[in-house]
Amino acid sequence: MRLFFHILLLLLIQSPPASTHNYHDALTKSILFFEGQRSGRLQSDQRATWRGDSGLSDGSEAGVDLQGGYYDAGDNVKFGFPMAFTTTMLSWSVIEFADAMPSDDLWNAAVAIRWATDYLLKTISQPGRIFVQVGNPISDHNCWERPEDMDTARTVYNVSAERPGSEVAGETAAALAAASMVFRSLDPGYSQKLLENAMRVFEFADNYRGAYSDDPGLRAGVCPYYCDFDGYQDELLWGAAWLRRASQNDTFLNYIQDNGKTLGADDNINEFGWDNKHAGLNVLVSKEYMEGQVLSLESYKESADSFMCTLIPESSSSHIQYTPGGLIYKPGGSNMQHVTSIAFLLLAYANYLSKSSQTVNCGSITVGPASLRLQAKKQIDYLLGDNPMNMSYMVGYGTRYPQRIHHRGSSLPAIREHPQFIACKEGSIYFNSTNPNPNPLIGAVVGGPGEDDVYEDDRADFRKSEPTTYINAPLVGVLAYFVANPNLSDHLS
Ligand SMILES: *[C@@H]1O[C@H](CO)[C@@H](O)[C@H](O)[C@H]1NC(C)=O
Ligand SMILES: *[C@@H]1O[C@H](CO)[C@@H](O)[C@H](O)[C@H]1NC(C)=O
Ligand SMILES: *[C@@H]1O[C@H](CO)[C@@H](O)[C@H](O)[C@H]1NC(C)=O
Ligand SMILES: *[C@@H]1O[C@H](CO)[C@@H](O)[C@H](O)[C@H]1NC(C)=O
Ligand SMILES: *[C@@H]1O[C@H](CO)[C@@H](O)[C@H](O)[C@H]1NC(C)=O
Repeated sequence: MRLFFHILLLLLIQSPPASTHNYHDALTKSILFFEGQRSGRLQSDQRATWRGDSGLSDGSEAGVDLQGGYYDAGDNVKFGFPMAFTTTMLSWSVIEFADAMPSDDLWNAAVAIRWATDYLLKTISQPGRIFVQVGNPISDHNCWERPEDMDTARTVYNVSAERPGSEVAGETAAALAAASMVFRSLDPGYSQKLLENAMRVFEFADNYRGAYSDDPGLRAGVCPYYCDFDGYQDELLWGAAWLRRASQNDTFLNYIQDNGKTLGADDNINEFGWDNKHAGLNVLVSKEYMEGQVLSLESYKESADSFMCTLIPESSSSHIQYTPGGLIYKPGGSNMQHVTSIAFLLLAYANYLSKSSQTVNCGSITVGPASLRLQAKKQIDYLLGDNPMNMSYMVGYGTRYPQRIHHRGSSLPAIREHPQFIACKEGSIYFNSTNPNPNPLIGAVVGGPGEDDVYEDDRADFRKSEPTTYINAPLVGVLAYFVANPNLSDHLS
């Protein structure tokens, strides 16, 4: 009897608490965030009404139309490399978790993806060239200015056969291929166009191999912000993997099989973000291995397994770092990007394992999909408010959330309330003000607390208080999953 009670107690302790979070509200807001980041001419459906048109002559310096796309964070530069990654992850969110998305959210997510893909198509409109960035980051960062007032240099940067950029090209191929799957039934013509362009830009990435930051001119524009620190090899495999998934064409499967070794697929690197695709590549290709029985791809599942084991506290492998409050933590700033992208991989991998009735072998223990989902839930519940600060790290969600995010448009007066021009340095008083931002950027998730779980809500501390598009993009899929499975109850048996 005593033993029975102990077991019962243990079960009660181990079951996740019934959900106290409104995942649907968080999902809707995580998508709305992208409207605040829009560049170009806004449409009548714009809900973030504190924003106005901006960057309307982007591209004119190079004689091309590069209007549109997204500002990547709290500044007004359009960085192509992280924008493409954002697009890939927004698309993967929809591909993997659309079944769980309420129809309004699914529609808005597709609109958010198209805002990016319309722009990405413009960047590859000239054969043999990709426009990889608009805006000189030094002059931009020197100003605290609304995008609508922007008068800094809108320098246009391009890569070509002579100055290759296989990471941007490979990621752009991945983004267009993934997005083609999102639009397959919504807009078949557009979907086909995305896929054809993905194939074309992948060929360019592969034929002219090199890292864009190796060119001194490009380096001055893209570094140190979105330098290619980790090499372009992973983006070639990643682009091929997405083309394979989108087209089912064996050419890309063969590419992965023939080039995996030389492009470092076996390096077993436990990273996933805008620069490093390894862990995501391993998860994505494992799907093909597990469902398609392509034996030559087994090493991808082994690598994905060993990554998952670093996230399971009970496993004997070396572990990722956690804060005392339980948040995944990696040094370097903007930590929430790791939290959301890892939570995404946990859930995607759990789905692939479920579908093929497989498990993860972590040495002394075997881990099933339920444990992976539980780890993801802990991270997301922390993000939404179950943490030592008792605050949500998403603007507009919950009762306490960041008020002074590092974001120009959000912290300066809205254009419709203050139509007069506010020049570069005139914005400093708003930057230095301790007042809350006047325009809450609803849905924005900030870089988050430090390794001690402390968050100061300080606008100047961009490592903690700046939102980015690639923090939110994987979060959209994660939240969609928890809208459908708030208690995880059906998976814990
Ligand atoms: C989740 O748990 C809560 C609280 O017990 C309950 O009200 C809700 O119906 C559950 N939701 C689902 C989808 O099972
Ligand atoms: C591409 O970049 C090179 C090097 O900066 C520049 O000379 C060239 O004019 C650019 N081409 C276009 C079309 O912008
Ligand atoms: C597969 O992709 C290759 C390379 O893009 C292309 O040449 C070939 O026609 C494609 N095959 C099919 C069946 O679409
Ligand atoms: C958070 O809430 C807990 C429980 O209500 C409380 O003990 C703690 O002091 C709170 N922490 C902060 C930083 O407000
Ligand atoms: C605002 O802060 C910046 C740096 O934090 C400082 O250089 C500047 O003098 C301040 N400006 C005003 C108007 O207080």
